Amino acid sequence: MNGLNDCQGRLFLESVALGEVASRFGTPCYVYSRKALTDTYAAFDAAFSGIDHLVCYAVKANSNLAVLNLFARLGSGFDIVSGGELQRVLAAGGDPAKTVFSGVGKSSPEILAALEAGVLCFNVESASELSRIDRVAGEIGRLAPVSLRVNPDVDARTHPYIATGLKDSKFGIPFEEARSLYRRAATLPHLRVVGIDCHIGSQLTETAPFLAALERVLTLTDELAADGIVLEHMDLGGGLGIRYREEVPPDIAEYAGAIRNALAGRPQRLILEPGRFLVGNAGLLLTRVEYLKHGSQRNFAIVDAAMNDLARPALYDAYHAIVPVLRRDGRPRRYEVVGPVCESGDFLGHERDLTVEEGDLLAVLSAGAYGMAMSSNYNTRPRAAEVMVDGGALHLIRERETVVELFSLEKPLP
Ligand code: LLP
Repeated sequence: MNGLNDCQGRLFLESVALGEVASRFGTPCYVYSRKALTDTYAAFDAAFSGIDHLVCYAVKANSNLAVLNLFARLGSGFDIVSGGELQRVLAAGGDPAKTVFSGVGKSSPEILAALEAGVLCFNVESASELSRIDRVAGEIGRLAPVSLRVNPDVDARTHPYIATGLKDSKFGIPFEEARSLYRRAATLPHLRVVGIDCHIGSQLTETAPFLAALERVLTLTDELAADGIVLEHMDLGGGLGIRYREEVPPDIAEYAGAIRNALAGRPQRLILEPGRFLVGNAGLLLTRVEYLKHGSQRNFAIVDAAMNDLARPALYDAYHAIVPVLRRDGRPRRYEVVGPVCESGDFLGHERDLTVEEGDLLAVLSAGAYGMAMSSNYNTRPRAAEVMVDGGALHLIRERETVVELFSLEKPLP
């Protein structure tokens, strides 16, 4: 986790004490570091310097407008998967001409909105979608820029829920069918074929699967050139993993270097869609211990954040480090760190050795990606506030929801 430091037993993000964040904004609360976001973006971008490239931040990882606006200011483009994400990008000052539209289920209104906004391209995931985009574009007299998302049938060796590049996945166009679909795309009147795309999964900790996918993309690109279909860009998707615990993902230089070598001499512009890598280690979830429950079998630290705030542990059995905000002396006890939600799957961490007391704050680390973005209102829990630390300054970038807001769209029967 970046930007975190311990000052005489008190935990700070940049120059802000997390205790101060909690007293000002309450808990649970997501806290991000502007410096960590900025530095990570800069490092990612710089790793590809010298080659024509565009970073399209995957909005789904963290779609807060302040985060999107920060990346837009740094020059980032965006990878979106819904009309909602498109509206967020536009509201945050993102450039639609640097925005790619991914996803297997784009609806006609979403396609229309993206065409009207002028997105860089549609990453098309099926033959039917291709026809639909052609039709919608025709209806408004536009030419839709398209790229086919091919499924390279590569094992990303990650959690099965977040692997997307295998044959049996719902994602992408089967590799064997891609060439003929490209030929068809080239004949459709309202399409302009601009690129090729793949995304094989998330939280990858090895370079080899990326290279295997890239190799297939390059083969197809050459075959297409032989067919007279010349592509302007290659989009390698996102997926670069981060360190949550003991993983050792490739560092950015290794990842970029390998891609660079494989692409040597290619005229196409490179597009990348990193999500987690840019935001994951720039944010944490701040929570307070409500109760300690010591038992003969297990001890529970019951905190005020739950699976509705951070779903990753419950959903993927994902590990997030959990550390006290105030270091206490004394022998640690082993705790199940759990939330108030009425499900046994509601946990944030298993078997954590902590020296804590009721009322203490805990920081759940590396929660900047797929944390708030996947949160819900289960158990009628208002979603957490979000705060951005900037040096010594604190900015509330999303207010805590109120319960009344949660049911304001509901109506009793007449
Ligand atoms: N591009 C496409 C088409 C994607 O589907 C994704 C992520 C990305 C880019 C960004 O991938 P990243 O660089 O973040 O790995 N909720 C899960 C992760 C789901 C990823 C979905 N697609 C988690 O919390 O681990």
